[in-house]
Amino acid sequence: MMLGNYETNNIYNDDCITATRTLPGECVDFILTDPPYNINFSSQHRQEKFEVILNDNLSDEEFDQLLTDYFTECYRILKNDSFAITFMGWSTIPAFERAIKKTPFEIKSMPIWVKNNFGLGYYTRPQYEPMYLLLKGKPTPPNVAISDVIHCAKVQDLIHSCQKPLPLLIKLINTFCPRGGVVFDGFGGSGSTGVAALDTQREFLMFELDKTHFKSAQKRIKDKQSKPSIFDMFDIETTKPEQNTFFDDCGEDGGVCNN
Ligand SMILES: C[S@@+](CC[C@H](N)C(=O)[O-])C[C@H]1O[C@@H](n2cnc3c(N)ncnc32)[C@H](O)[C@@H]1O
Repeated sequence: MMLGNYETNNIYNDDCITATRTLPGECVDFILTDPPYNINFSSQHRQEKFEVILNDNLSDEEFDQLLTDYFTECYRILKNDSFAITFMGWSTIPAFERAIKKTPFEIKSMPIWVKNNFGLGYYTRPQYEPMYLLLKGKPTPPNVAISDVIHCAKVQDLIHSCQKPLPLLIKLINTFCPRGGVVFDGFGGSGSTGVAALDTQREFLMFELDKTHFKSAQKRIKDKQSKPSIFDMFDIETTKPEQNTFFDDCGEDGGVCNN
């Protein structure tokens, strides 16, 4: 399906702000997105293999502008009466709230992803990432209201420092995106949203600015598209071996993550 100049089920190596401005209004069914948290992530972890994340070390004003521009466009391209979910870092919740409150989105709740292990810290050690559940209009509530605390294991063999686990994304898509709908993510990273959309028989459109991440995401998606699983053929909602789960909570309520 074409959305402006962009074909669904693809990731494009573009700046999401300028690219999203060219999309038609009300063209996607769900937004599941993961902007940089503006925490200069990789420079705190120089020994790790990952490079810096683009737009992750902006001034407060620049970050506010990026988020405001992005969520303004997200609101415009999302169909009426639909959901959006954005991941955030705890320290940038105020910036996300400031930007989102400049749009007509209603902030409905703050689901929390709880990981199976925790990072380094002198005072407390981080084990969770918050999200905002946003409403455009009055979407029909999901068949099953899921817990706002979702336990899900981190990805073990990361190809991106901020990679989100597929079972978590699958659960969110199954809960908040109509079947066959289009999922949008302007900050594509390693392509996780797209793979999760394919796993749930949805379409997707993604952008990723960093050429290296774009290439690995594109390869990951192509690999997925070239190897449809038996579950895809029979339209069964499930997870695949790539999706390591430690906590089986990820499968509760939404009933999708049972490996
Ligand atoms: C938090 S990471 C997303 C990780 C992703 N959820 C995953 O599972 O791999 C944010 C990504 O946004 C990208 N990015 C930053 N600014 C961007 C922009 N203006 N347009 C598109 N992508 C951008 C970064 O290169 C980074 O890969």
